[in-house]
Amino acid sequence: MAEETLSNLLQEDRTFPPADEFAAAANGTQELYDQAADSDAFWADQARKYLTWDTDFGEVLDWSEAPVAKWFIGGRLNAAVNCVDRHVEAGNGDRVALHFIGEPGDTRDITYAELHDQVQRAANVLVELGVQTGDRVAIYLPMIPEAVVAMLACARLGAPHSVVFGGFSADALRSRIADGEAKVVVTADGGYRRGKPSALKPAVDDAISGETTIEHVLVIRRTGSEVDWTEGRDHWWHEALEAAEPTHEAESFDSEHPLFILYTSGTTGKPKGILHTTGGYLTQCAYTSHVVHDVHPETDVYWCTADIGWVTGHSYIVYGPMALGATQVMYEGTPDTPHKGRWWEIIADKKVSVFYTAPTAIRACMKWGEEFPNAHDLSSLRLLGSVGEPINPEAWMWYRRVIGGDRTPIVDTWWQTETGAIMASPLPGVTAARPGSTQLAIPGVELDVVDETGKSVPDGSGGYLVIRKPWPAMLRGIWGDLERYKETYWARFPGLYFAGDGAKKDTDGNLWVLGRVDDVMNVSGHRLSTTEIESALVSHPKVAEAAVVGATDAMTGQAVVAFVILRSEAVSEADEKGEGAELVAELRNHVAKEIGPIAKPRQILVVAELPKTRSGKIMRRLLRDVAEKREVGDVTTLADSSVMDLIKTGLDPAG
Ligand code: WT7
Repeated sequence: MAEETLSNLLQEDRTFPPADEFAAAANGTQELYDQAADSDAFWADQARKYLTWDTDFGEVLDWSEAPVAKWFIGGRLNAAVNCVDRHVEAGNGDRVALHFIGEPGDTRDITYAELHDQVQRAANVLVELGVQTGDRVAIYLPMIPEAVVAMLACARLGAPHSVVFGGFSADALRSRIADGEAKVVVTADGGYRRGKPSALKPAVDDAISGETTIEHVLVIRRTGSEVDWTEGRDHWWHEALEAAEPTHEAESFDSEHPLFILYTSGTTGKPKGILHTTGGYLTQCAYTSHVVHDVHPETDVYWCTADIGWVTGHSYIVYGPMALGATQVMYEGTPDTPHKGRWWEIIADKKVSVFYTAPTAIRACMKWGEEFPNAHDLSSLRLLGSVGEPINPEAWMWYRRVIGGDRTPIVDTWWQTETGAIMASPLPGVTAARPGSTQLAIPGVELDVVDETGKSVPDGSGGYLVIRKPWPAMLRGIWGDLERYKETYWARFPGLYFAGDGAKKDTDGNLWVLGRVDDVMNVSGHRLSTTEIESALVSHPKVAEAAVVGATDAMTGQAVVAFVILRSEAVSEADEKGEGAELVAELRNHVAKEIGPIAKPRQILVVAELPKTRSGKIMRRLLRDVAEKREVGDVTTLADSSVMDLIKTGLDPAG
């Protein structure tokens, strides 16, 4: 299947060189590739160019304890000062940092000076609640400006934040709080989603009931909904900030001081707390915002549609654009609330010039029809970006034609939670773009595609995507589990970082990322673990066994399809009462409760058996064949042997 998609992709030979005018004003130039030949010197230059260091660094990279890297040795800085204070000091306090647009239509413009005030107050509040340098703070919020304030307040204190996506369940929040041993959680009464308030505080109450490391809860008032309140533990954000000292003197931290933990799915049931530190991460975020997103802070209005709960929100809403002092749009809601033109209306209204979104969103907009974008003036746009999953050439072409007016370059950016920042992308003023390809490693990064034995493959062939040498924004480990870090990323090909993706190089040396080669799925650009969903399913009393696969889906890239074997009591009960559909609904909701609605299987097929190897390993590859080939229709199929017949046909060497 991947091969088939690839050969289609590889026939793609249209190229789109940047217009002369764009190229002439672009931040990223051809010279960068030449300068990056000495990568240590190159990164030292970027670190000094983009950041303000309180103490300059000496050695650039210490790789003596590989695979744990240290970057910019001895350097000291404060990430929040770099993202806020210095812009105010430079006289840009009146520049809008955030044009916030709430889903119900409320708006707030927040300048860098206002952000400075808020971040200092919030830092003082956290200190009063007992947060010290090194303590972890969990953040569980909708897309509101306070999310940015809370993250930067943590950064200011050197207290690593652990942002948990607001769409995750109480159980998912509980396990992330426990793993990171967070002391405080910042949340809200709720946020607006699809036209109505959606509560958050109850999930926090649930997640910290019983034994917990959480001592205090800061609650932002967003929707005004009623909340349960625990005196002494819960505090209103607005009251605490108002009462707080307005100024906070920021300390400098070591370049390697932990900045944040962000959980992402791996191949086991337990999410990995990806650890990022300060100097290297911030350098690469700022550099890529500058040369890939081509942000010109004085003139651009930038908009990244990601949620703050994912790494894209961390690197390309908070740390990259803000280190540059950019003006950006922050939108709370969904693209189709209250109508399918909402995004385009915002772009026209705020004169957005640089827009960064995911292929799955582009495909949804294609389906809704071009009349929605066509109804708005999108002429302010000058650059478009894509991230999260491979973008099919058809969606790329639509994005450029309909949204970009056949004029804007598109940057298809490949990276991961673990890489911290963009690793592969065209440079918009340099590279002739190829629809569907992420094209080249950015200057300073060395990527490759290797075969099973770790040998570099020639142009025109495929294999595994690897990174050949350390990069500044690389993860520094998995929180509390150094062994798992070494095992997951560095064991498969010694000396190379294994990304978990399959890729091909075309005959011009362009990179085409094909998708995960491990037990990780990519649904709408969100990473989900097959094992994690299987564990959620078997934790339901009626499920005996479960196998989950990511099946190709035209809209979401991949979709979760689950095969379950029921406990015998459950089978007969469902059969007798004809309640298959209800059971399936119950199981889908159970997954949503255990992990979050994004993990809900598209389909659940009840089967009598699962295909296994002689050693008992489930052959997911065969299940994926079934999931992709067969129109299963309604999810009511119960103990249906025809599913197994299909699987058996696949297993039979003669069939
Ligand atoms: C995985 C990382 C990068 C931030 C959002 C996702 C896939 C990401 C691309 C792209 C093809 C892509 C890969 C990668 N991916 N960007 N431009 N082309 N695939 O971060 O949740 O850590 O997921 O997303 O499979 O390994 P993440």
